[in-house]
Amino acid sequence: MRNAPGIQNVAWKKYFQWDGGVFNLDLFPVHPIENPNEMDETLENVLNKLRKHAQYPGLFKAAFGTEEITTERFLKALSQFQLMFISAQSKYDKVQRNENVTFTTDEQEGYMVYKQKCASCHAEPFFSDESFRNNGLSVKNQYDKGRALITLNDKDMYAYIVPSLRNVMLTPPYMHDGRFETIEKVLDHYATGMIDSPYLDPIFKKQNPIGIPLTDREKYVLKSFLNTLSDTEFIRNRMLSEF
Ligand code: HEC
Repeated sequence: MRNAPGIQNVAWKKYFQWDGGVFNLDLFPVHPIENPNEMDETLENVLNKLRKHAQYPGLFKAAFGTEEITTERFLKALSQFQLMFISAQSKYDKVQRNENVTFTTDEQEGYMVYKQKCASCHAEPFFSDESFRNNGLSVKNQYDKGRALITLNDKDMYAYIVPSLRNVMLTPPYMHDGRFETIEKVLDHYATGMIDSPYLDPIFKKQNPIGIPLTDREKYVLKSFLNTLSDTEFIRNRMLSEF
């Protein structure tokens, strides 16, 4: 039903999932393990598999003192690992920290367009203010009511958490259901593709037609800026890789 979000900078996040249905990193894994759309497993069965595994009991002993694999240890180990997923070495970060790196003129112009037209929701430094909003996507799945599935409040209908734009150029497809394959389609959506509804965020209703007006030049420089948010040190970190 949903597009899997990347794991990054989770130490600072208050909410997880597109609808914020999980708000504690330690408890997060229970959801994908037991969700029929994801692993469709039981926590107990997963723990039993680890207990019978050739390596894991020894690894738990090294970390916790004994070989015992309990729910608490299992969840704490997973959280601790996920806390290592820190993305803070992009070109953008280096420019912000004055590490002798500067934006090109296109990137700088894109940064200005971003600050004017995107930053109210995709706010620095995480590139999300962690609010839940509706950005005018057509409803393709009437059962996925977004944040309203959690709060049961009509005002949250079809609202989703503002996703971070860090590493965004590396993580198509886009939006909660992955409907856009390219960043160009995302920008076209903001400029000319929005669907009006009572749930649409008021920011997009300020202009007529609704949305965020973007010229071809603005789209071009915005892409240059978004590229500066790609953190190759992070995505190539071997400690976080299976290979
Ligand atoms: C009023 C708040 C708001 C503003 C302003 C806004 N966005 Fe968004 N953006 C969102 C929300 C909410 C989503 C997630 C919507 C969903 O999936 O249902 C989103 C999703 C995205 C995504 C998809 C990311 C992913 O990982 O799937 C991109 C890319 C994006 N926005 C870029 C921009 C750009 C570029 C601008 C400025 C031109 C902008 N946004 C302005 C609220 C906003």
